[in-house]
Amino acid sequence: MKKMRLLCLLALLLLRTATARASAAVQGSQAGNRSSLPSLASCQKSCGNLSFEYPFGIGAGCFRPPQRDFELICNNADGASQHPRLFLHDGHTEVVGDIITSDKDGLPEIDVSFSRSVSVSPEVDAYNMSWNPWKSPCYYHVSLNFTGCDFDMYMLDPDTNKMVGGCNTTCPHEDITDSVARQDCNGTGCCTTQVYSEFARGFDIKFVRHKIGKLKLKAHSNRSSIWDTIDVTSNYASIPWAIAVDEPGPLGNSKDYACLSNHSSSQLAYQYHYTDTPQYHCYCDGGYRGNPYITDGCSRDKGYDPIQRKTNCSRWCGEISVPFPFGLEDGCSARMSFQLNCTNSSLSALLFLDEFDDTAGYSRNYVQYINISGGLVNVKYNLYEAERLSVRVFQDPGLYVASGGVVLQQWAVANLTCHEAQQNKTGYACVSINSICLGVNSEQEYVGYRCKCLAGFDGNPYITDGCKDVDECPRNTMYDTTIKMCVSTKEQNLVLGEFYGTTNSMQ
Ligand SMILES: *[C@@H]1O[C@H](CO)[C@@H](O)[C@H](O)[C@H]1NC(C)=O
Ligand SMILES: *[C@@H]1O[C@H](CO)[C@@H](O)[C@H](O)[C@H]1NC(C)=O
Ligand SMILES: *[C@@H]1O[C@H](CO)[C@@H](O)[C@H](O)[C@H]1NC(C)=O
Ligand SMILES: *[C@@H]1O[C@H](CO)[C@@H](O)[C@H](O)[C@H]1NC(C)=O
Ligand SMILES: *[C@@H]1O[C@H](CO)[C@@H](O)[C@H](O)[C@H]1NC(C)=O
Ligand SMILES: *[C@@H]1O[C@H](CO)[C@@H](O)[C@H](O)[C@H]1NC(C)=O
Ligand SMILES: *[C@@H]1O[C@H](CO)[C@@H](O)[C@H](O)[C@H]1NC(C)=O
Ligand SMILES: *[C@@H]1O[C@H](CO)[C@@H](O)[C@H](O)[C@H]1NC(C)=O
Ligand SMILES: *[C@@H]1O[C@H](CO)[C@@H](O)[C@H](O)[C@H]1NC(C)=O
Ligand SMILES: *[C@@H]1O[C@H](CO)[C@@H](O)[C@H](O)[C@H]1NC(C)=O
Ligand SMILES: *[C@@H]1O[C@H](CO)[C@@H](O)[C@H](O)[C@H]1NC(C)=O
Ligand SMILES: *[C@@H]1O[C@H](CO)[C@@H](O)[C@H](O)[C@H]1NC(C)=O
Repeated sequence: MKKMRLLCLLALLLLRTATARASAAVQGSQAGNRSSLPSLASCQKSCGNLSFEYPFGIGAGCFRPPQRDFELICNNADGASQHPRLFLHDGHTEVVGDIITSDKDGLPEIDVSFSRSVSVSPEVDAYNMSWNPWKSPCYYHVSLNFTGCDFDMYMLDPDTNKMVGGCNTTCPHEDITDSVARQDCNGTGCCTTQVYSEFARGFDIKFVRHKIGKLKLKAHSNRSSIWDTIDVTSNYASIPWAIAVDEPGPLGNSKDYACLSNHSSSQLAYQYHYTDTPQYHCYCDGGYRGNPYITDGCSRDKGYDPIQRKTNCSRWCGEISVPFPFGLEDGCSARMSFQLNCTNSSLSALLFLDEFDDTAGYSRNYVQYINISGGLVNVKYNLYEAERLSVRVFQDPGLYVASGGVVLQQWAVANLTCHEAQQNKTGYACVSINSICLGVNSEQEYVGYRCKCLAGFDGNPYITDGCKDVDECPRNTMYDTTIKMCVSTKEQNLVLGEFYGTTNSMQ
């Protein structure tokens, strides 16, 4: 599943590159007049264990009008024992992953699943089914399995009637049930087809019985459901979504312009033919994160929480120490990027959690050592090629920086300047006295800040009283790095308040 998703992502990135030139005029456009949304405060934001955000929503006023593409349905009707299930507005297409509006690493897409069946009778030789989950044309990547007996299946583009996919089934041996046939799905009782459909309005699916099929059907009509039902089940399906351009002219001038947040911009999405309606999506500008589709949705990085929420956190993975701000369990690290997975403590096997895997599932990056004072992690890669890559944790900004092809990665705690970070006392990472804030830069850009104990102190600047005096100053005095001698605590604090700077320190 993950691999498929990434392959799809790659395809879409290529797509984006291909359309980038045509959309140059719109890229980075900034709205002069942004309309405001009605309050979304009372809108549902999750269904079962799935979460979603505006422009998606449940109920009038909670999703982006006028099309119903962004309307979701939460179906609780299956009874209390089952999870509520989330559907697109067609009521058939189930959403199976969180809907994220802030994914900057590709076009946003929804992972869905689809399952329908039609009963067949000996008198009728042809059946139809349509799948139109999205009103605006979009790019589909689907893999469907059909179970049935002696049918040709055709998938057609409803606008052009062109065949985009299809396969055949023959009748299996009488003992074969539909679930057995589906496991192999080799053409006997079940067949599979993959469709990459650009700019489609969904699919029409046609089933035509083989001439010989009718006889067999009569002979086997009391066997497994393969003989009297056609089932269509998605193996994998994703729908990349975008906003349809509603009027000509610069995007930002439209009264229904979707990128409502300050610090957001738009980019034209796929437009294959000049006759097609162009579509776009919104993103938060560099250094901002969040939901560009709502007022004030894009903000500076707020992902760091300096308080360890759980008290009894494990701090070792075998022989590897995992100090705060890193952690192994929920509530034990300061942000998502710093939560690690100790997959085998006897082997000291420590992985990044939910890592955005650039190499499509081929490599796992093992953490071997965490260096708090140097702001480094030592990573062992499985692939040589991967050594150039920075570790990237899905849904968090890029806070790890590969350092020139070696296995060390620098890290920052949040993409904020020291000055910005110090404005928000509840989110500021350098909580120990005698700690200072440093900037971390990659070769290309500013990555964020980290903390360090003052010279003469050592330990963990991310925890209260974590920086310990390593010089021999008496009680109530501290080592002052600027004058290189012990001074009273009071004086020291004055010096600290003014000290912050940037460094690119790599030894
Ligand atoms: C904003 O709206 C005003 C009045 O509706 C209009 O005169 C102005 O040109 C608009 N500005 C932009 C940048 O679209
Ligand atoms: C939601 O719960 C279902 C059933 O418990 C599970 O299969 C699925 O993986 C969960 N999805 C997420 C995103 O957690
Ligand atoms: C299938 O669709 C065609 C038109 O595409 C229509 O003529 C036919 O009646 C439909 N058949 C069924 C069984 O709905
Ligand atoms: C069904 O199989 C036949 C023979 O292998 C082939 O000619 C035909 O194109 C197939 N139909 C579909 C829908 O794949
Ligand atoms: C196809 O799968 C069925 C089980 O559904 C099995 O009986 C049959 O031998 C398989 N055929 C081939 C060619 O693998
Ligand atoms: C299926 O039908 C045959 C005759 O048509 C009958 O002998 C057999 O008992 C039936 N099997 C079941 C499971 O109903
Ligand atoms: C679809 O068929 C493939 C084999 O081609 C099988 O691995 C997969 O489990 C099937 N998926 C579903 C949802 O039945
Ligand atoms: C957007 O930013 C401008 C200037 O940065 C500010 O004046 C305005 O209040 C902001 N709008 C909102 C809705 O926060
Ligand atoms: C961090 O924020 C700056 C703006 O201060 C931005 O230019 C940069 O791209 C951001 N870096 C990352 C890795 O997101
Ligand atoms: C931490 O404490 C909670 C409740 O006090 C307990 O359920 C849990 O097992 C403990 N976890 C560890 C890793 O000791
Ligand atoms: C940790 O890694 C193991 C093995 O890869 C995986 O099965 C497990 O789901 C991971 N745990 C979390 C919380 O991601
Ligand atoms: C301050 O930081 C906390 C924790 O990171 C965050 O929840 C909060 O939104 C931040 N406040 C502001 C005004 O940025």
